[in-house]
Amino acid sequence: MGGEIKMKKNNKILKLNGGYIYQGDSYDLIKNPTFLRKYEGKIDLVITSPPFALNNQKSYGNHKGNNKPNASDEEGHEYIEWFSNYAEPLTKLLTDKGSIVIELGNSWNKGEPTMSLTTYEALKRFKEKGKLKLCQEFVWNNTAKLPGPAQWVTKKRWRAKDSFTKIWWFSKTAFPKADNRKVLKPYSKAMNKLLKRQMYNAGRRSSGHKISAESFLNRNKGSIPSNVFNNKDFYYDQLPSVIDLSNTYTTKYGKYCKIKGLKTHDARMPPHIVSFFIDFLTDEGDKVLDPFAGSNTTGYVSSLKKRKWVSLELRREYIKGSLGWFKKDKYFENKI
Ligand SMILES: C[S@@+](CC[C@H](N)C(=O)[O-])C[C@H]1O[C@@H](n2cnc3c(N)ncnc32)[C@H](O)[C@@H]1O
Repeated sequence: MGGEIKMKKNNKILKLNGGYIYQGDSYDLIKNPTFLRKYEGKIDLVITSPPFALNNQKSYGNHKGNNKPNASDEEGHEYIEWFSNYAEPLTKLLTDKGSIVIELGNSWNKGEPTMSLTTYEALKRFKEKGKLKLCQEFVWNNTAKLPGPAQWVTKKRWRAKDSFTKIWWFSKTAFPKADNRKVLKPYSKAMNKLLKRQMYNAGRRSSGHKISAESFLNRNKGSIPSNVFNNKDFYYDQLPSVIDLSNTYTTKYGKYCKIKGLKTHDARMPPHIVSFFIDFLTDEGDKVLDPFAGSNTTGYVSSLKKRKWVSLELRREYIKGSLGWFKKDKYFENKI
């Protein structure tokens, strides 16, 4: 990886191998005529994790237009408005068979142990405003997530840990570009045994499904992935330069931030999830956009996967840290 890094005088755009990082408010950027001239109808995949509808301010960003980042049922309207306003301009950027993939966590009401539907309402408005199809919903069961909301989970002990986020896949058409054969998982031990034995327990299941003796006995290249991600499943995609996701400082990004004294982004998407959707929904040479790029996981994984990419991020310090992904490994020798 690596490559030349060109920084414009005003620091607004960074050009890296295979992609660009723009600094600024992504809503303004995607509506900008120059940006549109370059990217309208050309983006094959938008993949992003926007600021969530949180009821406590997080250091990784807040959305414009909401001074109280408060997303209770009563106060979430501004969030819904802000978030859903992205639908039309993002859809405009998509190719006809392109997809938009959005990761969003749960939102809780302020001051009480109850959940708010703000996230769902925001997604519903987003779908309506963009005239989009909801292709599928995915769940990331993040077993490494800290117990929260802390007040109700660890202090009062009134609620269970909130440990998943959802990933929503939208598109302009019901038939976007997609191929699950590009994201097959290795067979489980049990399935390998079954394939060896070549015998299947045939008959009618309680679900009503009729299974023949030959069902599932063809050895393909792997098993079809499910729409639930568990951290332990992430091995099925090869990302050689992402070593250990549970330890920030074993990644190139983390090492770079440490050397440069930069704070690492604390809400990064796992590269394996980004990689899954890139493989599933795009081909080599396609264009991937992340309007809330943070540490630029999207740009980095896109470049590993030989996709072109465009990343937008409001905060300069995150952009600075994200350069670490693109440094040659040699850069790190003798530095840690
Ligand atoms: C949840 S984080 C994304 C993390 C990213 N997926 C990663 O892997 O590092 C959301 C990011 O959106 C940025 N952000 C918030 N509002 C924005 C805006 N209006 N325009 C561009 N970026 C924004 C925040 O600074 C933050 O870095």
